[in-house]
Order: sequence, then structure tokens, then C-alpha cells
Amino acid sequence: VDETYIMVKPDGVQRGLVGEIISRLEKKGFKLTALKLFQCPKELAEEHYKDLKAKPFFPGLIDYITSGPVVCMAWEGVGVVASARKLIGSTDPLKAEPGTIRGDLAVQTGRNVVHGSDSPENGKREIGGTAYYVSGLKKVKYVSGHQLKHLGYGSDS
Ligand code: GTP
Ligand code: MG
Repeated sequence: VDETYIMVKPDGVQRGLVGEIISRLEKKGFKLTALKLFQCPKELAEEHYKDLKAKPFFPGLIDYITSGPVVCMAWEGVGVVASARKLIGSTDPLKAEPGTIRGDLAVQTGRNVVHGSDSPENGKREIGGTAYYVSGLKKVKYVSGHQLKHLGYGSDS
């Protein structure tokens, strides 16, 4: 089953958007398998965004991500990586379509409320790698009844 790492960024937590973001993923039919509220240390923020290290906005990005608590989550379900990216919307909230999280809830690229893994490989790395060791984010196994079909267990999946 596909899995993705979703992180409500400090602005999302401060603005009280955690429930809204979780709700959108739940209603789509994905399954929450790990959740942790924690203060992201600088080292983990730098590791998480290491591909962007050369960008001029990198120091500001690290300050932003470490400015307050974040909510780290693992979600699973068929096609969850690409689908969550679609639900989140474009990086620049002003370009994100209405109906997406960023399109509905944000206005600035530098305060775009949520992160979603950009590939299945990065999803696995972000959930099982550094996030696990630094934050203690740990997956819980359980069966979520109404999602059986979405998770690929249904006969017509
Ligand atoms: P994430 O889900 O957070 O990884 O966003 P993304 O995949 O849509 O974008 P990307 O990985 O390219 O950039 C990571 C984050 O860096 C973005 O979500 C923004 O918060 C920030 N960022 C990217 N581009 C810019 C920029 O041009 N200016 C500023 N201030 N921040 C940026
Ligand atoms: Mg990204």
C-alpha cells in the first residue's frame, strides 16, 4: 500500500487548521497510521528540505519550519502520494486551485500550511527515516472499516 508523509507546518498549527487538514484526507478515504505534534529541530528541518539547500529562501524556510510545533503524520491508501499532493494544491497558494488546501486556506508560498511527500520513495524515507528517529513518529497498524476498498483489500479494487 502506498504511504505518504504529511506535515502541518507551524502556520497551520497556529491558525488551527490541523483538524481541517486531517478531515480532508480522511474524507477522501485515506488512512491515518501515525501522528505526532512536535517541535522540529533545525537539523531535521535541514535534512527534510536538503534538496533546497542552495535556494535563496532556504534559511527563511528553516526558520519557518522551526518557528513552532508541526504535526507529522503518515497516511496510507491507494495512490495516496499523488492524491495528497493534489488535495494540497500548488506550492504557491495564489496559484493553487480553489478546493485545494492551499487554494482555500493560504496566500503565501512561504506560509503554505502543509507539506506532502513528492514521490513514493520520499514518502517512505520521510516516514521511516529521520522523522522516525528524531520525532518518534511511529506507525500503528489497524483496520479501518470504511476504507477497506480504498486500501485495496476490496474484491473490486
Ligand atoms: P512541500 O510539500 O513543503 O515540500 O512543498 P512543495 O513540494 O510544494 O514545494 P518545494 O518542495 O519545491 O518547496 C518546499 C517548501 O519551500 C515550499 O512548500 C515552501 O514553503 C518553500 N518554498 C518553495 N519555493 C519558495 C519560494 O520561492 N519562496 C519562499 N519563501 N518559499 C519557498
Ligand atoms: Mg516538496
